[in-house]
Amino acid sequence: MRKKIVAGNWKMNKTLDEALALTSEVVNMVNDEVTGDVQVILCPPAIYLTTLNKYVENSPKIALAAQNCSDKASGAYTGEISASMLKSIGIEYVVLGHSERREYFGETNAQLAGKVNIALENGLTPIFCCGESLNQRQNEDYIGFVKNQITESLFHLSEEQFGKVVIAYEPIWAIGTGLTASSEQAQEMHAALRAHIAGKYGNEVADNTSILYGGSVGAANAEELFASPDVDGGLVGGASLKSRDFTTIIKARQ
Ligand code: PGA
Repeated sequence: MRKKIVAGNWKMNKTLDEALALTSEVVNMVNDEVTGDVQVILCPPAIYLTTLNKYVENSPKIALAAQNCSDKASGAYTGEISASMLKSIGIEYVVLGHSERREYFGETNAQLAGKVNIALENGLTPIFCCGESLNQRQNEDYIGFVKNQITESLFHLSEEQFGKVVIAYEPIWAIGTGLTASSEQAQEMHAALRAHIAGKYGNEVADNTSILYGGSVGAANAEELFASPDVDGGLVGGASLKSRDFTTIIKARQ
């Protein structure tokens, strides 16, 4: 059975005090209110990971993710953070290929293949993001575009390696815009991606792959989105910065 996951991508937000307050609130709410089987993942700025790990270590439902890692193992790469460093401080997950990284930092499918490799080599679980722009949705084979992102960054993996990857489908036109994909649009893409994975790795691997939806997931629309059979959870940006909204989303997935 694939995991149900709700991940909160804080992006470049929150000072230390704010990060501590938000984490404490989420930990308390999850411990008090979430009874079901859902993996909660917080993705704070990397500078807070070590500190926040102490806040979540006694909450088995909550894990931490980095928002990125280097495709290099170590060395003269000023400003970068390696997968082995993340592992060494007890981090389990890493978000890779977020559309903001692709757009503002030029990350390519080929470079992301390298990041996925090094994350897996270091025992991290990649949360691999994919998704099309508005222009692509209107003018191109948007399903083919997203399938190709997966092919080029992930399909070199062995079946065992692929089995460790979480996918996050995030249509770029829905990120931070308040425009959410309808549950039909999300389901269409998720089912197509699962079929694509099945074509390469077989039905069992595809059935066990968690595919999250991201793009303006909020307290009001989470339940409807998560009701689609191939939507296994969410990667939540803006709404993850508010503990009550984020907890409501988690409860919609449990
Ligand atoms: P959003 O961001 O929920 O604010 O649209 C989602 C994301 O970028 O992961």
